[in-house]
Amino acid sequence: MPKTMPAPLRPCKNDNFDQKAFRGALLKWYDRHARVLPWRYTPGNKANPYHVWLSEVMLQQTTVQAVIPYFGKFVDKWSTVQKLAAAKDEDVMHAWAGLGYYARARNLLKCARAVSTEHLGIFPESIDSLKTLPGIGDYTAAAIASIAFDIPATVIDGNVDRVVSRYFAIQDPLPDSKPEIREQAKRLFEGTVKRPGDFAQAMMDLGATICTPKSPKCGVCPIAEHCQARLRGIATELPHRREKAVQPKRVGYVYWVTNSKGEVLFETRPPTGLLGGMTGLPTSDWVAPGAINHISAMKIEDTAVMNKNLKIRHTFTHFDLELTGVKLPAPRGFRLSPNQFWVAPADIPALGFPTVFRKFVRLVLD
Ligand code: ADE
Repeated sequence: MPKTMPAPLRPCKNDNFDQKAFRGALLKWYDRHARVLPWRYTPGNKANPYHVWLSEVMLQQTTVQAVIPYFGKFVDKWSTVQKLAAAKDEDVMHAWAGLGYYARARNLLKCARAVSTEHLGIFPESIDSLKTLPGIGDYTAAAIASIAFDIPATVIDGNVDRVVSRYFAIQDPLPDSKPEIREQAKRLFEGTVKRPGDFAQAMMDLGATICTPKSPKCGVCPIAEHCQARLRGIATELPHRREKAVQPKRVGYVYWVTNSKGEVLFETRPPTGLLGGMTGLPTSDWVAPGAINHISAMKIEDTAVMNKNLKIRHTFTHFDLELTGVKLPAPRGFRLSPNQFWVAPADIPALGFPTVFRKFVRLVLD
């Protein structure tokens, strides 16, 4: 007799689902427990679309805690989208340094300039027109439309993925389950609904504070009653995720070059490509391990200065990088390229540059 397997749990349509009850319970909870965040407006107060847009772009792939100080710095420096549009590229790139995913900063400026020149400084109010702007995709358009303009839209970030996967006990692993999650999420977000912006933020807050990845607090969850994952005892297991492919690795050298005054060589990276337009330390090419990777780019003959302990690792979206530090005095006859400049060690902390270089600077200075 072939062994009979238990039927796999099907994604559950959640027959007890009642949109009005779900939204009512969640909004009631939000009114008491909403996180206080600098870009947020209390219920009843109109949100500032510039603040909503800026925070949503910053929050793409970055945590709320990391974004808070950057958001404050940006609105202090540039209080309106027109002021940001008029900023110098390098000032914005410096202010963004450390937040990562630098294409976002370049698109941020492009978008500010498009809003300023093509829309008279006023953010358009429909999802479709928002999506025509640089750096605004499906998620960001839906978030801005609902939070800034109270337009019902399905806003799905990582927190919402988790809440919806659990509430409807969606068993397929992410990212394959995305269409199913979207289909179910629409039942929560769309239709003739009250307070779309607060609801979207309530879903995010629920995911961030109650329906957390490792130990969801189902005992105090406002929508626990009909949550299918809780009822089946599988809340902590969901959402499943497809195993990640191992990231390719790249290696290279990063140089700490000093002149006779003890100043350190920095450069502005080329405008396009990875970390484009950002300030950084000079490096070799970053190549696959084992590929030829000399340090001849700097005309360095004496590799004895290479210090095996000066290694840093950094993960980019598509590869893991390991850089070996090389400390050396500027080679004889060295001349600055137009994109290079010397910085006194005391001035380095105030210089904005990406985390991969910050890790190395910390290693050398500490
Ligand atoms: N993550 C993305 N957008 C957010 C928001 N508006 N509030 C809290 N967390 C978020």
